Amino acid sequence: MPNLKIFNTKIKRFKKTISVSGDKSISIRWVLFSSIANGVSEAKNLLMSEDVMAAINAIRQLGIKTKFVKNVFKIYGKGIDGYKYKKNLIINAKNSGTLGRLILGLLINSTKPIKLIGDKSLSKRDFERISNPLSKFGANFKLKDKKNLPLIINGTPNLKSIKYFEKRGSAQCKSAVIFGAIRSKGTTVIKAKKSRNHTELLCQHLKLPITIKTKKNHDIIKIKNVKNIKKLNYKIPSDISSSAFFIALTALNKNSSLTIKDVNINPSRIGIIKILKKMGVKISFKNKKIYKGEQNADILVESPRKLRSINCPAKLTSEAIDEFLVIFLVAAKAEGISYFKNLDELNQKESPRLIWGEKILTKMGIKTITTKNSIKIFGNPKLEINKEIEIKNYLKDHRVFMTSVIASLSFGGKWYIHDKDSIKTSFPTFLDIIKKINK
Ligand code: S3P
Repeated sequence: MPNLKIFNTKIKRFKKTISVSGDKSISIRWVLFSSIANGVSEAKNLLMSEDVMAAINAIRQLGIKTKFVKNVFKIYGKGIDGYKYKKNLIINAKNSGTLGRLILGLLINSTKPIKLIGDKSLSKRDFERISNPLSKFGANFKLKDKKNLPLIINGTPNLKSIKYFEKRGSAQCKSAVIFGAIRSKGTTVIKAKKSRNHTELLCQHLKLPITIKTKKNHDIIKIKNVKNIKKLNYKIPSDISSSAFFIALTALNKNSSLTIKDVNINPSRIGIIKILKKMGVKISFKNKKIYKGEQNADILVESPRKLRSINCPAKLTSEAIDEFLVIFLVAAKAEGISYFKNLDELNQKESPRLIWGEKILTKMGIKTITTKNSIKIFGNPKLEINKEIEIKNYLKDHRVFMTSVIASLSFGGKWYIHDKDSIKTSFPTFLDIIKKINK
């Protein structure tokens, strides 16, 4: 079974400098913005993963040419109205919620019906949260069981602006509506609970007609119809969500340290850093710079002498949303009981991740008390695993695979971890970097 990986040795202490691959959220947004820009946009360090490839295939099906030459990815945008809507078009978003949801915002002016499909995991996820606001612009949706993929979108050229209240803290919902607003007459007003703001930063960098008022818990975004988008050259910074696995690995091991080069540290993404610092891990930023509105830096992590438990503030949920599985591992080794709440969205991811967090910890011998939106983790600083553990996630969630690898390297035991290929969706070089750290 080539897709099964067996791990049975703990990692040796390490002092290393690594680079992880390009940020997935920014990569997908770069592809989508470039596809409606005027002229040739170029990206360096674009994440070459299945999710991003699905985005590239999607825009190619919409008549946009692309080319990859010597580490530079080029997109030949034909302007805001440059998509060609062919008959019987099927777009496959594969595993990517970000692609599946964001692209719908751009397709609301389609002149022919378009079918959107995805893999088993994406087909279980909620698309009503997108079709509801986008239909207010004037587009029409038909969804399987009223909320899932496959769906059919029927756009219209007569799109009107909307008022939308995004209550979940979902950047995917907010971004899909921003794309819809770009295509619509008038001013769309979005009141959005705080979530990652890469789309807004790109709009500002591109000088699109957007204004943002920042309040304590939400933002008020106003965006008008867009006629022209300039080409967008971009050097994609590294992904903090990929870095998270190695930050946790350092936190879970003794006498080790790690530098991760040029990572995006957008304040809406650094929940893991805030949480682990509260738990006693030494983390700092070096060589901070601002690039096209985004903050990037090298991240330095040092093993702590001891880990403290945490009562995790609810407001950090969105900032750490993709990192909770590895954060739970760190809590498993902390002294005392950690408590994470406000996690309703975690079960809406590629697999139900709150349930999976509980499953992995239980297999490791850690006591948890889980509700539908919270988990208490009874940490054990002396935890050593001496048994066999098998992890098989039938939805092939990449982050379940990678979290299990970090657990095996940190706590010992013999781990049979299935679905190695799932890492191709977000982080194809994950195992190569593990080898480099362990050398
Ligand atoms: C993403 C937003 C988050 C996150 C996902 C990527 C994005 O999802 O979990 O991995 O790029 O906008 P939600 O917006 O649904 O919370």
